[in-house]
Amino acid sequence: MINLAILISGRGSNMRAILKFASKKKTINPVIVISNNHLAPGIKIASKFGIQTEIIENTKDQNVYDKKLLTTLKKYDVTPKNGLICLAGFMRILSNDFIKKYKNRIINIHPSLLPAFHGLNAQKQAIQYGVKYSGCTVHLVDSGIDTGPIILQAITKVDEHDNIVSLSKKILSKEHQIYVRAIELFAAKKICIKGRIVKINK
Ligand code: GRF
Repeated sequence: MINLAILISGRGSNMRAILKFASKKKTINPVIVISNNHLAPGIKIASKFGIQTEIIENTKDQNVYDKKLLTTLKKYDVTPKNGLICLAGFMRILSNDFIKKYKNRIINIHPSLLPAFHGLNAQKQAIQYGVKYSGCTVHLVDSGIDTGPIILQAITKVDEHDNIVSLSKKILSKEHQIYVRAIELFAAKKICIKGRIVKINK
């Protein structure tokens, strides 16, 4: 069983998908949803699922923020041994020290087929580039922006009539599918990480 912390900043649809999925799985134990934005709509959704929520508002000093984060994770027993931290639309960079502490225990979902279109507005980047296929990626978090080892990806066709809104919608529904799958694999200890390469054990 893994203790899950979900970090959000906004809408929380991936968080909702994770909480729904976890409610049917004995191996995944969501213990805390943390938001850096007290106005995040996801906070109310988390409460409806009966999960504890904590607001850690942004601070300018990265170390101050990450210390608060560490204290909160400890409080809810999300440790580098038994825990998994899922970034789900969490709009904040974590410090290298923090990432080192939770090495290979932090994952993120990104709305593009990495390494294409990392960073902000990935769907807009895809539309403007004119790609015919896009998708989403679940990856481990390292010190770069959306650069960590790739766990799972899903592909979406970009049609001629697609715009940022329609593509985002198509990608989002895939996000909800692969994020929970990646967490399930992680909880089942089926993810084997060697450098950049992630292998999924059968
Ligand atoms: C998703 O598109 C995710 O890929 C990106 O931020 C968005 C968060 O959406 N990292 P939600 O808050 O999960 O609905």
